[in-house]
Amino acid sequence: MPIIKTVNLTKEYKVHEKDPGFIASVKSLFSRKYKIVEAVKAINISIDEGELVGFIGPNGAGKTTTLKMLSGLLYPTNGTAQVMGFTPWQRRKDFLKQFSLVMGQKAQLWWDLPLYDSLLLQRDIYEMTKPDFQNSLEELVEMLELQKFLKTQVRKLSLGQRMRGELAAAFIYRPRVLFLDEPTIGLDIVVQKKVREFIKGYQQRYGATIILTSHYLDDVSELCDRLIIIDHGQKAFDGSTTELISTHIDHKRIVLSFNKPVQKTDLSTYGKVIHYQPYKATIQVERNQTTGQAAAMLTTLPVSDVSIEEPSLEDVARELFTGHDYS
Ligand SMILES: Nc1ncnc2c1ncn2[C@@H]1O[C@H](COP(=O)(O)OP(=O)(O)OP(=O)(O)O)[C@@H](O)[C@H]1O
Ligand SMILES: [Mg+2]
Repeated sequence: MPIIKTVNLTKEYKVHEKDPGFIASVKSLFSRKYKIVEAVKAINISIDEGELVGFIGPNGAGKTTTLKMLSGLLYPTNGTAQVMGFTPWQRRKDFLKQFSLVMGQKAQLWWDLPLYDSLLLQRDIYEMTKPDFQNSLEELVEMLELQKFLKTQVRKLSLGQRMRGELAAAFIYRPRVLFLDEPTIGLDIVVQKKVREFIKGYQQRYGATIILTSHYLDDVSELCDRLIIIDHGQKAFDGSTTELISTHIDHKRIVLSFNKPVQKTDLSTYGKVIHYQPYKATIQVERNQTTGQAAAMLTTLPVSDVSIEEPSLEDVARELFTGHDYS
């Protein structure tokens, strides 16, 4: 029995359309024009207990909307979802007590209270016993290194500290299912890594089921054995990270700067020209030819700078959805 299952889960937003200007505003009071945004289109997902799934896709793909439906914050337009046997939008207490939603883009802690007080509130809301709370707190303080700022007002925390605080508040009652929507957004590399280790550690220790969205390839490739890619509201890929990488990331990009202008035709012999300006260009080459082609270009072209880049996850995703290489 999957712990999370959706069947044709669909969300349409009805958006009020208004032309700019005062007259248009007045008119729109009488005849409202709407447009339908199909944010999530008949998504079928099945996730087993203990899985850590990366949920990725470009901006506006429908990730947050899906997680909001699975959390019961939004009603779907169509379709069904079951999480731990509950229908999320019925918002049963037993459901709410066993899952958690973290939104990296949105602060959920009390701004004026110290982090510790927010955690105490969580203890009361989730009806934790004092020993359970104490145990969980000690573990989180250690894993997320909260000691130094536990008693500091949240508004005075740095972004990285606040995010660790958000995670502490979400994890303190030991949820069985977690939806983490961009939990590492805006964090520096060191904190990102710490957060990743924390998420992995929690999942392994408690066998939690986690869906994680992130625009950082590192998060997803390090943490998740399984990826679900969504684009334009539709599921575009569902499989292992290795499968995705071996089938879709078989190339790298060589980014070049020149000290004299170079013709585009001089570049196309080395690989696919992705971006071209006379003084700057990006060439896509087969993964196993990267070094050779970079060396060849260095000897024949007026190169002033060169770097080799992995395609970003969004590039890969775009390639997947359209069936074209990125352009
Ligand atoms: N409250 C809303 N009202 C109307 N349209 C919305 C609303 N929320 C989201 N949308 C639209 O629904 C689509 C999906 O948005 P969603 O936030 O789910 O995308 P996302 O995959 O989370 O993107 P991102 O990576 O930028 O966070 C977008 O076209 C967005 O503009
Ligand atoms: Mg989002």
